[in-house]
Order: sequence, then structure tokens, then C-alpha cells
Amino acid sequence: MTATVSARDLTHSYGSLKTLAEIDFEVSPGEIFGIVGPSGCGKSTLLELVGGLGSPTAGRLSVAGQSGNAGRLAGCAWMPQRDCLLPWYSALDNAGLALVNQGRSRREARLAAAERFAHFGLQGFESARPEELSGGMRQRVAFIRTLVSGKPVLLLDEPLAALDAITRADLQEWLAPALAGSGATVLLVSHDVEEALYLADRVAVLSPRPGRIVATVEGARGETGPRDQVVSSTSFNQRRQELLALLAARGENK
Ligand SMILES: Nc1ncnc2c1ncn2[C@@H]1O[C@H](COP(=O)(O)OP(=O)(O)OP(=O)(O)O)[C@@H](O)[C@H]1O
Ligand SMILES: [Mg+2]
Repeated sequence: MTATVSARDLTHSYGSLKTLAEIDFEVSPGEIFGIVGPSGCGKSTLLELVGGLGSPTAGRLSVAGQSGNAGRLAGCAWMPQRDCLLPWYSALDNAGLALVNQGRSRREARLAAAERFAHFGLQGFESARPEELSGGMRQRVAFIRTLVSGKPVLLLDEPLAALDAITRADLQEWLAPALAGSGATVLLVSHDVEEALYLADRVAVLSPRPGRIVATVEGARGETGPRDQVVSSTSFNQRRQELLALLAARGENK
């Protein structure tokens, strides 16, 4: 189940604070659209608007043809920067939470989530509490929670940000086929240029607040071979340098 996300001349303000300006993009069904930009430029705000948690001040925004907040909310699943697992729930109950919130029984939710545990390297940890899991395992539980919701659009807000570089590289290698297998349309916010380029079909660079799209660069999704090989190719390096230069020119040097 896939959907298109479309923004046309979108502007947003929190009162007098202008957060986003003249944002235009179209994300095709099944596409992974990366978003990078300096801290505070409006990336999370953009995901919130797409996911129906707020309204644009001006312009048009739609998810699967739905432009109202409730329609956009119905089409999207959100994976926040922090995993936000409930400490008193088991890994399995956390992973099935989105389905319970949609009105399905706890048993059904647990069954749907359990099917993914082996695939995501979590077999045997169904009953573990979040505090008993490593950071990477917690992120995978949070990802399953997003995935089993069955929503056609996934909004991933720095999904791997809380992890160290080595774990991130491993998780990127795991996330790439997991996203492909979901068939979902994905908006992926990241601070990490390499991560965005590796995982996405296209990467949009936002300016400092109010965020505007200053460039869109082709990502490496679909390139075959192990991650190390993909990210060390000449073409990947050129695009990484291009993105870093765009960010540095606008005050971001990561
Ligand atoms: N609910 C809110 N009310 C008022 N201002 C807000 C609210 N949420 C965010 N802001 C402000 O809007 C601007 C954009 O915030 P946002 O969280 O979208 O940035 P971001 O690009 O996601 O930053 P980061 O990379 O640090 O996560 C910031 O100046 C922030 O202080
Ligand atoms: Mg943010």
C-alpha cells in the first residue's frame, strides 16, 4: 500500500516565528525522500504537518490525495527521534501498540508484531522490557511499531540519531531492505548526510529557518553491493561533498 505526498508552496509559522517557506515537493509512491538541514530549520515541523498534526499557514499539502488534517493523519505512521517505548510494556506489546490504538485486540496486535521479530533479529526478546534491550534493539522495536501500523506513508524523524556511529551503520544496512520490503512511501529526516544519501532515492537540503528547499540531490537507494562499497564510491563521495558544502554554506558543518 503506497501513496503520494505532495507539498505546494507550503508555508508555516508558529505565531510570529516563520518555520517553513515556499516548500514544494512531490514524493512518488514507494519513494524514500530524505530531508537534511540545520538544527531548528523546521524538519520535524514539516513531518508534523505532513502527518496531520498541524496545518500549513499557506499552501497545499496532501497525502494520498487527502488534504485535510484527519485525512493526512490517517495515511501516516510516525517514528519519532527518541524511540518512545513504554517502559512497563514488553517489546512485543510496544511493537503492537499502533494496532491497539487503531482498535485491534491486544492478541491480534501481538500476533502481527511477533511475525516481524525474527526478521528483525529480535526473536527471544518478545517479553523483554525496553530497559533490557540495547539501543539498536529498541530502535528496531520502534520501527516494527511503525511498520505494523500498515500506513502507506512512514514519517521517520532521525530514526537512528540516538545511536553511535558503528551501530548506525549496521542499522542503516538493516533499514534499507526493511523499508524496501514495506513498499511504503517514506519521508526520512536525518542530521547525517551519509545516512540520508545511503537510504534515500532523493535528498532535499533545507536552509536555516525558515526552511526552504535549496537543492535536491539523488540518493544511493537501489545501488547494489554492501554499504561500505556504496558509500565509498566516487559518485557517492561527490554527492556527499555537494551536500556538506550546501550545509556549510548555510551554517551547518555536519
Ligand atoms: N510547538 C512549537 N511552538 C513554537 N515553536 C516551535 C514549536 N515546535 C518547534 N518550534 C520552533 O520551530 C522551529 C523549527 O523547529 P523543528 O523542531 O521543526 O526544527 P528541526 O529542523 O526539526 O530541528 P532539529 O534538527 O534540532 O530537530 C524552531 O525554532 C523551534 O524552536
Ligand atoms: Mg527535529
